[in-house]
Amino acid sequence: MSRDLHNKFLWGAATSSHQVEGNNKDSDWWAWEAKGNIEGGITSGLATDHQNKFKEDLQHAKNLGLNSYRFSVEWAKIEPIEGKWDANAIAWYLSLIAECEKLKLLPMVTLLHFTLPKWFANQGGLTSPQAAEKFANFVTKVAHAFEGRVPIWCTINEPIVHIVGSYLGGFMPPALYSTKNVSLSYENLLRCHLKAFEILHSLAHIRKGPWAEEKIMVGYAHNMLSFKPEKFFHPIEQLLANRLNKIYNYAWIDATTGRKQKFGLWGVIPKAKVIPELFHKNKTDFIGINYYTKAYVQWRPRSQLSTPIKNLPIGINFARRHEVSSDLGWAIYPAGLKSLLRRVSRYNLPIYITENGIADKSDSLREEYIFSHLEVIASEIERGVDVRGYYHWSLIDNFEWIKGFWPRFGLLSVDYSNFDRHIRKSGQLFSKIIKAHLMQKPKKEILATLFNLRNKS
Ligand code: BGC
Repeated sequence: MSRDLHNKFLWGAATSSHQVEGNNKDSDWWAWEAKGNIEGGITSGLATDHQNKFKEDLQHAKNLGLNSYRFSVEWAKIEPIEGKWDANAIAWYLSLIAECEKLKLLPMVTLLHFTLPKWFANQGGLTSPQAAEKFANFVTKVAHAFEGRVPIWCTINEPIVHIVGSYLGGFMPPALYSTKNVSLSYENLLRCHLKAFEILHSLAHIRKGPWAEEKIMVGYAHNMLSFKPEKFFHPIEQLLANRLNKIYNYAWIDATTGRKQKFGLWGVIPKAKVIPELFHKNKTDFIGINYYTKAYVQWRPRSQLSTPIKNLPIGINFARRHEVSSDLGWAIYPAGLKSLLRRVSRYNLPIYITENGIADKSDSLREEYIFSHLEVIASEIERGVDVRGYYHWSLIDNFEWIKGFWPRFGLLSVDYSNFDRHIRKSGQLFSKIIKAHLMQKPKKEILATLFNLRNKS
């Protein structure tokens, strides 16, 4: 009988392949970066050279006291040409897993984290009618190669961000504006998730390694935002905040848990087709939440702060002027996580916080950010919410997509002149929190310990 990955709270940190490894030459992002699409015209290049420094990085993770590491496998490296598998790329991921095993860092593996192989992107990528089939070939290859050594899988990282970035917001390749493609790629990502879920479960009898006894868990990492109307009494903004909350935060979770499939925005984004295979069936073992901030929704945006959505009279702000916010201008808002956790707990599935973190180069806000979000998580666990792990974004500074390298999210800083890593003060503090074994304690004790650590820091 396999055990349930339940007993131990997972303390982790997350990264993604393109953002840290370097040399992702056969991906759509690599080609897009070369066309000058990244701030300052830079490219990801060697990223953080994690490809060569992974042992050092994992040793840091171990020293911090983590017991898990979330990373992604790069489809473009594993299948650089359609149907041709790169044995060296697979071998590198196997050595990464071996290192996790050696250091007792349970691997949580993401199969798709924003980057696509160029050949697949050229066929239409997420809008291709064969998207799910092609993705399934890759998943099958990876699952066989890894021989059941991975106990937790995230099929897709932030499906909604991926499609919005690609077909609405212009911040990810192919950066086309097509509301039709928003719906189409949404449907296809659901199909990709479903296929991966089924493949990984059908191979669940093959297990190896230190976690072979644990029941495998297949879910996803879903970005959630705390939506607010920009003006509280503005009826259209209220309505929009409400609607965006439904389609951005909950449509995907509803669809993957056998509930009503409802994705679209009146007259703007066509309704996505329903996927009959998902009717009344639960197709996720957990819900992974990537939570960072809130989003003020503006009708006919006026403020400069607001990010307009091309061709739509809607704007999003991630903070008001007076609010304490990150280097990217995202407000620190742990209360948003509290309400999301309460609502997500109604799905009665295990929850992992698969990402939570802040761009804070001076490291002046990260400690408070970590404290305040962990306080929320601890008190929700005490209320009975089944949160099983917390993964900080990120283990190390990395390539922050269209922004380039300047936003610094790492518990470890990276000196890009020589790729040296240094643990940040907030990293030390996170380590103290973990080492206090907080989540195993009763709430009163957790909160008291957090309080003491906060006062000492
Ligand atoms: C993504 C990461 C990204 C982070 C900070 C998440 O949306 O999964 O890839 O670096 O947020 O923006």
